[in-house]
Amino acid sequence: MTSVCLTQVGAGEPLETAKVLGSQTCMTSGCHGGAGLGRGAGNIFNRFDPHFNASATLTNGRSKAIARQLGIENAAESESCTVCHSPMRQVPASRLEAAPKEHIVDSGVSCANCHGPEEKWLLSHTRPDYPKDALARLGMRQLGSAYQRANNCVACHQNLSDPLVKAKHPALVFELDGLLVAEPKHWRELEGFSNVKTWLVGQAVALREAAAQANREPGDRRNAEIEAIKVLLQATDTGWDDSRKDLVHSADEYAKRISSTAMGHEQSRAMLSKLIGNRTPFQPDAFDTVAKDYRTWSTGYYAERLTLAIDRLNESLIGSGQQALIAKEPLKELFDAAKPPESFDAATTEDFIQKLNQVTNPHIDAKQNR
Ligand code: HEC
Ligand code: HEC
Ligand code: HEC
Repeated sequence: MTSVCLTQVGAGEPLETAKVLGSQTCMTSGCHGGAGLGRGAGNIFNRFDPHFNASATLTNGRSKAIARQLGIENAAESESCTVCHSPMRQVPASRLEAAPKEHIVDSGVSCANCHGPEEKWLLSHTRPDYPKDALARLGMRQLGSAYQRANNCVACHQNLSDPLVKAKHPALVFELDGLLVAEPKHWRELEGFSNVKTWLVGQAVALREAAAQANREPGDRRNAEIEAIKVLLQATDTGWDDSRKDLVHSADEYAKRISSTAMGHEQSRAMLSKLIGNRTPFQPDAFDTVAKDYRTWSTGYYAERLTLAIDRLNESLIGSGQQALIAKEPLKELFDAAKPPESFDAATTEDFIQKLNQVTNPHIDAKQNR
């Protein structure tokens, strides 16, 4: 598990050799250390972004407890943790030469982890006429489309190895739209940005990564999660087809297709209605491809992602000036009822369905909650 974050982008990019110059190169006052969006991107990042402090997290009490469970002496120096929390430590020293190493290694998740190592594109990227695909060839990762963003963010936000799960690292549930909303914005969204598309592409990429991890580290729990995401995609009625064998490949193709499809509030409304009306995943014979003891986990994983989906799709309606379909209070109760998957059983399922029925109530006056 080395340098996931710098190497996972498509072949042909010079990411294996280009040097990381470090965020201070981006942060001069004439560049991204200024004010406002774009110019001030670095200041917004350093002051507000959770990634800035990601390596400091490895020295807190919770990290020490996780590390103890794993028999790790120092989380801040262990690759099991730094690969996501302090990814610059994974970059070989030879690629850090151009910048003071001490400054870079503890910089948390840094500019280059999302934007690509700067060496070869630094000078050209300020030229307004410089084509984006040429910048991409120089190693500047393009993050404009939902698919490109999903590929970037999922590297650290979906898969935890079995030992980390057992050591009680916070569970990771990749939900791209919510993550992008929660990250303090240091960029402007372009015309045509779609929250509903972002949500759906995120789910497909979560499935792809979970399936890829299951190929490396198979297990009943993982399988339970995979089946839950498949059922969720199916329920959106957007052409997800899981009849093909290679799940990694089909999820990837589907994600790419959705990413290049125009989507707006009609799609949000249609998907939201379908998802909140669908009780099939709660039938006793649902998830019968999952090992018996893990079927309630599937229900739990499904409930968890369904709740997030309802929230995101509802928000995307409000964001595009439409009337919300779901009122705030019943949605809050649904969140409370979506217990962690491992604690799902007959009683929690009953409770969840009951809350889902309340969310579905057509008499709710959604307007009062705007
Ligand atoms: C190199 C790994 C890495 C990449 C790539 C990455 N993140 Fe993170 N992210 C983290 C880590 C580690 C944390 C936890 C920070 C902490 O509290 O220590 C985090 C935390 C967050 C949080 C706050 C916690 C939460 O779940 O709400 C948000 C929001 C977030 N990331 C959004 C994103 C988005 C959006 C992207 C893609 C544009 C992204 N991240 C890409 C590693 C990464
Ligand atoms: C696959 C990437 C990944 C790995 C590997 C990883 N983390 Fe995390 N970690 C995250 C992300 C993402 C979050 C944010 C989760 C959220 O808030 O939803 C996080 C959150 C945390 C938190 C809670 C945030 C806080 O401020 O207290 C702690 C503690 C933590 N990680 C410690 C560790 C330790 C210790 C290790 C190594 C044993 C480790 N992590 C390995 C991605 C990772
Ligand atoms: C967690 C991932 C992540 C990290 C880390 C990150 N960015 Fe970004 N950044 C993004 C995303 C996503 C966009 C939107 C890109 C797009 O739409 O094409 C973006 C856009 C930008 C833009 C374009 C702003 C605009 O709208 O014109 C600048 C400039 C920028 N980032 C600078 C930085 C700098 C400087 C750092 C480090 C201090 C940094 N970024 C760190 C994810 C990240």
